[in-house]
Amino acid sequence: MDTLDAIRALPKVELHIHILGSIRPETLLSIIENDGIKSPYSSEEEIIKRFEYTDFANFLQGYMEIVEYITDERHFEQITYEMLNNCAKSNVHYVEASFSPSDHIPKGLDFDKMADSINRGIQRAKQDFRIETNIRVDLVRNSSIEEAMGILDNIEKSPDNIISIDLGGNEAQDPPGPFAEPYKRASTMGLHRVAHAGEAAGPDSIWEAIRSLDVERIGHGVTAHQDPELVEYLKRERIALEMCPVSNLRTGVVSSIKEHPIREYFDKGLLVTVNSDDPSLFHTSMNNEYLQLHEHLNFSLSELYQISLNSVQTAFIDEGKKSKLHRKFSEEYNEIESQVVG
Ligand code: ADE
Ligand code: ZN
Repeated sequence: MDTLDAIRALPKVELHIHILGSIRPETLLSIIENDGIKSPYSSEEEIIKRFEYTDFANFLQGYMEIVEYITDERHFEQITYEMLNNCAKSNVHYVEASFSPSDHIPKGLDFDKMADSINRGIQRAKQDFRIETNIRVDLVRNSSIEEAMGILDNIEKSPDNIISIDLGGNEAQDPPGPFAEPYKRASTMGLHRVAHAGEAAGPDSIWEAIRSLDVERIGHGVTAHQDPELVEYLKRERIALEMCPVSNLRTGVVSSIKEHPIREYFDKGLLVTVNSDDPSLFHTSMNNEYLQLHEHLNFSLSELYQISLNSVQTAFIDEGKKSKLHRKFSEEYNEIESQVVG
């Protein structure tokens, strides 16, 4: 096989993917049609055209538009199953998938029913694609602290595959600091902690997520390079960056993949991972993310494999599962290496 096929065949881990942002255009169209919802879209092509953005805030508006079409908890089963089917096509073995209950609860959807529906999709995908999935819950930064606490109440009574909290939304408008209390409580509940930071705001936002929320990983972290002390800190403390290069390109956070700081971070020895964020909304996949890094930033097959191993290392799973995944990855990589030509 050639190098591009070898990159496609690499075993991968997806740590930063939003379930709703993975909705297939045809699924969104069928939801709109079956539910008789008023919508400007009458074809898949029209939906795909809507998935283009002028900037980050415009992207979030598009994302919130989709929230409006989700009127039944049962929709999540199909969206989750199809998301994992797509992941499996990029040879993803393990996924940490994010959902944002506080976007849906005000529209009358029920937390437990959403979680059950997502779990049905996860179970079916596990049987069909042998893919393992855990859930993380995005507390959504424009929600109130009371709402966030309410979500934590729900998580307390939920199945134990909810393993982490996250904080998505527009960090330029809603900084992380006010969420210190829910993050502290999440920590005492044994949940892991991630926050989107350094995507739509500068390095101060990343420092604040570290200092106020005690995060173990940063979602994005694109702007960290503006503060060399922060870069040193991320390296020393082994705080992983969940980088999503195509997302950053599509929302205008970077002007080209070539400008993306992931190459600099990798060369400096930071714990970088590569992820697809909202793959449908950004016309991407895990294979595409890895191929873009190869094409535009000169990442070799072995460097991309290292990134994949970084994701195993920083995954929120126990050491036993990590070792097992590591062994499987190493077997697959040896096989790929023995077949690659050129
Ligand atoms: N919610 C869904 N995708 C997001 C992103 N890329 N940044 C912040 N919040 C999000
Ligand atoms: Zn995200």
